[in-house]
Amino acid sequence: MLLGHAPIDDAHEEFVEVVMALRECTQQTAWVRLQAVEAHLLSHFATEHEWMKKTDFPAMECHLDEHQKVLDAVQQVNALAAVGDVGLTDVRRLAQALIDWFPGHADYMDSALSAWVNKKLHGGAPVVLRRDLRVETPAATL
Ligand SMILES: [Fe+2]
Ligand SMILES: [Fe+2]
Repeated sequence: MLLGHAPIDDAHEEFVEVVMALRECTQQTAWVRLQAVEAHLLSHFATEHEWMKKTDFPAMECHLDEHQKVLDAVQQVNALAAVGDVGLTDVRRLAQALIDWFPGHADYMDSALSAWVNKKLHGGAPVVLRRDLRVETPAATL
């Protein structure tokens, strides 16, 4: 999931944490975790929007529209939860929808943004180094 631009990668790491916590919530923790997801999305999307503006990102509208749709869905559930109109099944369904949505958005829209920002800042594409990369070595031949 790493895209090579630290502010976006940090936001994505936090996205995974808050959404996984929402998926595992109980009746007692659902409200706090729903609010944590909304607060996270506001910050995450604001970070990406700032980088779009700073670097004159060309595909901004399409990217922001998708953010807004996701934020609208989360805020609708939070509004219903505030009046006690949402069950645990609905909350978990929202978490699963966010889990299903995220990889496609990150792979397509956020990776394009990350590549654009790195090109603008450093003149090249990002290089991502992974610590957990396993390299298969061929069996020794005698
Ligand atoms: Fe993102
Ligand atoms: Fe995004």
